[in-house]
Amino acid sequence: MRFAGKTAVVTGGASGIGRATVDLFAAEGATVILGDIDDAGSAIAEASESRVLFRRCDVREEADIKGLMDFAAEKTGGLDIVFNNAGAGGARAKIDEITAAEWDDTMALLLRSVALGIRHAAPHLKARGGGAIVNTSSVSAFHSGYAPTTYSVAKAGVLHLTKIAAADLAQYRIRVNAVAPGFILTNIFTGTLGLSGEDKAKADAMIGQMSMHAQPVARSGSPRDIAEAVAYLASDAAAFVTGTDLLVDGGMLIGPRHSWDPATPGMFDLLAPQP
Ligand SMILES: NC(=O)c1ccc[n+]([C@@H]2O[C@H](COP(=O)([O-])OP(=O)(O)OC[C@H]3O[C@@H](n4cnc5c(N)ncnc54)[C@H](O)[C@@H]3O)[C@@H](O)[C@H]2O)c1
Repeated sequence: MRFAGKTAVVTGGASGIGRATVDLFAAEGATVILGDIDDAGSAIAEASESRVLFRRCDVREEADIKGLMDFAAEKTGGLDIVFNNAGAGGARAKIDEITAAEWDDTMALLLRSVALGIRHAAPHLKARGGGAIVNTSSVSAFHSGYAPTTYSVAKAGVLHLTKIAAADLAQYRIRVNAVAPGFILTNIFTGTLGLSGEDKAKADAMIGQMSMHAQPVARSGSPRDIAEAVAYLASDAAAFVTGTDLLVDGGMLIGPRHSWDPATPGMFDLLAPQP
């Protein structure tokens, strides 16, 4: 019961990584305020025996974010933990084709939302005498090729924002860290592509297969894998950890694929004289 008596806000809590984190926080004693644009969060709250409260929130809207943080504090008497996690794939155009509107929309969803989440949580965390913020970044913050261009830039921004916010807020005993997931089985891929019905089912099957072989750890990454890392960063066990990022990717970024995949020849394999 690491979070007994604590109040935690989770954005994007109706699905995937956010949902798994809502469940873990609640199971370990927190009252969780689930903020999401998807009203499916309402059913999760209803089934939770008052451990979870739902508040509709579009993280592209500053008033919604402020409303979410204020609601958490008003309903429970204070705020201790914030997981700025909501997101989607955003614009898919590459840099030579993207429009200003697409860029702005994706940045509002993935980077400005995190800045404003910190901004509007801070007064409540200060009033509590401290707290913990965790932001969702991605492996795509480190290298190209894992996600669309604007998404990757926004997620790199989340890492730097995490450091700067950690410095700004340390004097108030507020810790700020990021989690950087690898390939995690959620709805984000089919959602970004706008797939539904049979097309979604087919894509989900393909994604499931791909995810087992995309990294050195030979299994799919699950939302729970990320929730466990978020719970650590939010807990008192991480009391001396701030301004950092925790990569949870099954080793995806260890190095080039030939360094860990026996089926992929590297340069020395290819150049070595054949027997
Ligand atoms: N799944 C992965 O492989 C992966 C990898 C790296 C990072 N991430 C990041 O993890 C986070 C969670 O994604 P997920 O994989 O669990 O996807 P998901 O689609 O399962 O969940 C995302 C949630 O965010 C909500 N959401 C989307 N737009 C919103 C908005 N404007 N306002 C409020 N809520 C909104 C959705 O309704 C959904 O409940 C995202 O920030 C994503 O970029 C995911």
